[in-house]
Amino acid sequence: MNLTVNYIKEKIRDFEPEIGIILGSGLGEFADTYNMISIPYSEIPGFENSQVQGHKGQLVFAEINGKKVVMMQGRYHFYEGYSMQTVTYPVKIMKKLGVKTLIVTNAAGAVNKTFIPGDLMFITDHINFMGTNPLIGKNDDTLGTRFPDMSEVYSKKLINIAEQAAQELNISYKKGVYVATTGPSYETPAEINMFRTLGGDAVGMSTAPEAIVANYCGIKVLGISCLTNYAAGVTENPLNHQEVIDTANKVKDNFKNLLLNILKTI
Ligand code: HPA
Repeated sequence: MNLTVNYIKEKIRDFEPEIGIILGSGLGEFADTYNMISIPYSEIPGFENSQVQGHKGQLVFAEINGKKVVMMQGRYHFYEGYSMQTVTYPVKIMKKLGVKTLIVTNAAGAVNKTFIPGDLMFITDHINFMGTNPLIGKNDDTLGTRFPDMSEVYSKKLINIAEQAAQELNISYKKGVYVATTGPSYETPAEINMFRTLGGDAVGMSTAPEAIVANYCGIKVLGISCLTNYAAGVTENPLNHQEVIDTANKVKDNFKNLLLNILKTI
């Protein structure tokens, strides 16, 4: 971890990011606008080289609305075959760089039948349905405790800030529980019915691992899902990745403005 941190610090000099932002599918463009220093994952010792359609794979450092920010333009997914350690390694590095708050975003399917594609959802909690946990293995006591509390992974205070920021901009939003699956196949209608019964509102293939590790490290988390499609079985339509990207693209202006407004008050 020291090798990684030293390499990054060498590049960013005295820039100390306080806020981390993980940009999900179709939302990565945000980092193009505010790019002060960027470092491709492939150059960073300890990072792996991510290649997924719609993702760039670099850390972007910038000062936005007076806040020093490190953004992940593209993230590692478990479904790509990366280990949970690789998926969550950047969050640990953020912690070592001084990050106190993590805004984690994603594209997700709408499980709650009152939600529609294009809605933004603030994550109130998650159900980790990935069948594994990123903290399995020897514990690093310098980062966190062996058995971390998970009562408030998604900071209520940050949700309040996000709600106010959305209201100011007249952006409608939802709040709900994010169910994390491994993917890469989308869910079956029976699985979606099960998730709804269990209290899930949205479903996606990321976020829970990063949020677990951030919480473990003492980083406050705000989770924002862009609901890009009806989850399987909600309508008759089959799901596809293009729809996910297209919907994320449609909401990107709202998303950008919301993020800017949140950064102002955070
Ligand atoms: N399911 C899982 N992951 C997703 C979905 C979905 O419907 N939409 C975007 N990511």
